Amino acid sequence: MIMGLKFSLRVFITLFCVIYVINGINGLDNGLGRTPPMGWNSWNRFHCNINENLIKQTADALIKYGLDEVGYKYLNMDDCWEGERDEQGYIHASNVTFPSGIKALADYAHSKGLLFGIYSDAGYLTCARRPGSLGFEEQDAKTFASWEIDYLKYDNCNNNGKPEEDRYKVMRDALNATGRPIFYSICEWGRSAPYLWAPSVGNSWRTTGDIHPTWPSILGILQRQHRITKYAGPGGWNDPDMLQVGNGKLTVDEQKSHFSLWAALKSPLLLGFDIRNPSHDTLEIVKNTEIIAINQDPLGKSVNIVKSTSYLDIWVGKLSDGHVALLLNKDESPTTIKLDFAKHVNIRGEILVRDLWEHEDKGIYVNSYSCEVPKHGIAVLKLFGGTKINDFTVQYYDHNDNLIKDFYNDDLINDFYDSAFGRN
Ligand code: GLA
Repeated sequence: MIMGLKFSLRVFITLFCVIYVINGINGLDNGLGRTPPMGWNSWNRFHCNINENLIKQTADALIKYGLDEVGYKYLNMDDCWEGERDEQGYIHASNVTFPSGIKALADYAHSKGLLFGIYSDAGYLTCARRPGSLGFEEQDAKTFASWEIDYLKYDNCNNNGKPEEDRYKVMRDALNATGRPIFYSICEWGRSAPYLWAPSVGNSWRTTGDIHPTWPSILGILQRQHRITKYAGPGGWNDPDMLQVGNGKLTVDEQKSHFSLWAALKSPLLLGFDIRNPSHDTLEIVKNTEIIAINQDPLGKSVNIVKSTSYLDIWVGKLSDGHVALLLNKDESPTTIKLDFAKHVNIRGEILVRDLWEHEDKGIYVNSYSCEVPKHGIAVLKLFGGTKINDFTVQYYDHNDNLIKDFYNDDLINDFYDSAFGRN
């Protein structure tokens, strides 16, 4: 009898510890983001100039142009929806720009089959100096849940200097406590190496400062993704910031490159242009379902960089049914880029190559595949077949395709990229 009791007690304690440890590791338990989220956010195009009509018209446009059908489900408001807190501390929408309140907008989005997202800040004030959630986490999370919000972007301005990890965990716990699954998007701009702690805190984490609709901004952000690709996976994604496709003066090729790379890095795909008046080219780019399928592949593995020179990048990754390779021309004129299956992809044999922008099977190739890529353009190739050659994780090649290094260990990759790209 006593033996039996002792045994049950031991089982109970073991189970308790296991559950405690699992919860500690996977603290965010909302089941969301098994593939990267897709939708629209107001900031990149409209900044603070938002109001309820714009958000409603955007909901209508997501449907009118069939963007919801290819996966863009989240309709997300960024900063500047906020009005003031009342005497009990409850946050209210601006009664000038959002007179009907946020619940009405969320209802509108839901009635169209969309999901609805909101923005707040782990500081006293948001970046646009509206009320932030620091100190009001529980109350705000409850308010957001009562408005039936599905996504929270949580920014980092005007904070009290406490470590990001601590402040972001408070909102995670507050969101969990509501019982409503709310996608939790951490926006601390890559300040405190979020990929190391954020997988158990949020569903995505910004890896850099803000993106701008210019080619140098896109390349600058891209370069900072090299060593952190391994941290992206189902439930938690690296976020190199929202898409600028359709904004500024980006050329069609630049937009295609930006969209393809973000998709293959498994970034959230949040459109940022005025979708009420889309250009034909921009719509065609963001509705390329073959590129979207790379982003939404159930394996959830980001591409890695295998070759990077001043004029080209080759990014390669595994998919649930093959591989994907992206050949980026950073040069100022068209150039031919060669993908070597053994060196860059670590496979040999007969490989079927499909071009995901030309929507065309290019045929079976054995050692390599070459194609001409326009200035600032990209070729996105899906590779079917082939067998793995050896166990290295990633290889890295120089300008003349001489092997610089094999990596058997992910940490070595980080160290190497740090020195190769001048970071400590
Ligand atoms: C920060 C964020 C942006 C945007 C603005 C809003 O700069 O990084 O994405 O949310 O704040 O004020």
